[in-house]
Amino acid sequence: MAAGVEQEVLAMRFDSPGRIEYGAGARHRLEEVLADWGIRRPLIVTDRWMARSLPDKPGQLVYEGVQPDPTEANVAAGLEQAQRGDADGIVAFGGGSPIDCAKAIRKQLGGVKLVAVPTTAGTGSEATPVMVITDEEAGVKRMTREPGLMPDAAIVDYELSATMPRPLTAHVGVDTLTHGLEAFVSRKRHPLSDAMAVRCMERCREHLREAWRDGRQMRARAGMALAALEGGLAFGNASVALVHGMSRPLGVVFHIAHGLSNAVLLPAVTKYSWEGDAERYGEAARVLGIEPGREAFVAWLEALNRSLEVPRLRECCGGDRERFEGQLGKMARDAIASGSPANNPRRAGEDEIQAIYREAW
Ligand SMILES: NC(=O)c1ccc[n+]([C@@H]2O[C@H](COP(=O)([O-])OP(=O)(O)OC[C@H]3O[C@@H](n4cnc5c(N)ncnc54)[C@H](O)[C@@H]3O)[C@@H](O)[C@H]2O)c1
Ligand SMILES: [Fe+2]
Repeated sequence: MAAGVEQEVLAMRFDSPGRIEYGAGARHRLEEVLADWGIRRPLIVTDRWMARSLPDKPGQLVYEGVQPDPTEANVAAGLEQAQRGDADGIVAFGGGSPIDCAKAIRKQLGGVKLVAVPTTAGTGSEATPVMVITDEEAGVKRMTREPGLMPDAAIVDYELSATMPRPLTAHVGVDTLTHGLEAFVSRKRHPLSDAMAVRCMERCREHLREAWRDGRQMRARAGMALAALEGGLAFGNASVALVHGMSRPLGVVFHIAHGLSNAVLLPAVTKYSWEGDAERYGEAARVLGIEPGREAFVAWLEALNRSLEVPRLRECCGGDRERFEGQLGKMARDAIASGSPANNPRRAGEDEIQAIYREAW
């Protein structure tokens, strides 16, 4: 059966930014987008590294304090700067971290427009009504999803992603593939999210290894930037599932970057989830050009990780099995509490989730 036609669609909702600009040099259209909305004093939200590649303009408002996996303190500092500078709009410039931080700042500031310019390819955050902010006190990465978080415009210029080093290309690239796959098997999927999910997976198949092998290869960078955008549109509407639910607690406890914590879990979670919707996973296998069957799919994901030099989970945790075992209970509970595992084709309780973490070790 073809993707998305197996059931009658009774209701559907699809959210996206009101304006999407994509292409080489699209970043130069930022001025035009801001002018169209009469924005004169935007606050640019970025991190220290990316701030160095901003064009030098006297008097521009920049908050460059965003940490990877932004915290509530980052949001508060950015908000203060927006208020002090009387910002009339927000521009996010960077990976998922500055974009999510900018979403939180805009939410608290209220009323102003948000333009997202991603520089990784990526989280797709430029096109999702989702943010992930770390609450350091509680030790959790909190995911919020509400329509008002959607950026008003996304400016996707794949030239910006060409400077990503190999490990970052690998991590954000497997994150993109995970968005496509999780949206495709999600219980909340629908025909429009499916369309985006399928294209996202096809493009990852075609471009991810090449973008990693030769980062200056613009065809591959262009493909992955589009895949990331499609992945965001897919999961922003269909939700992510068990991989993301499990990766957030893992990331916060062991300080593992978002894409990497997804990548190390993806094979084990797929192995577990397969029987929840073997037909859908079979479809995904066809899209990715994988032989039929669960074992071939899992082997393909493992081979992808190896070819992108993604380490095993045990390496990410410094080999400390005892500490890992000690955290399993909290991680499993936090995973379930995030809500994402409820969208998984096969439901998992705390015991199953702990077993999957162990399998990924
Ligand atoms: N809101 C969403 O829909 C969504 C989806 C997935 C992930 N996320 C969140 O996004 C965050 C991760 O974002 P990310 O993976 O894009 O990384 P990031 O934004 O955390 O950036 C990681 C590092 O890469 C650097 N970097 C960014 N662009 C670069 C470039 N072009 N060249 C060289 N270095 C560059 C940054 O300076 C930083 O040091 C996590 O907090 C995650 O939870 C959000
Ligand atoms: Fe993600």
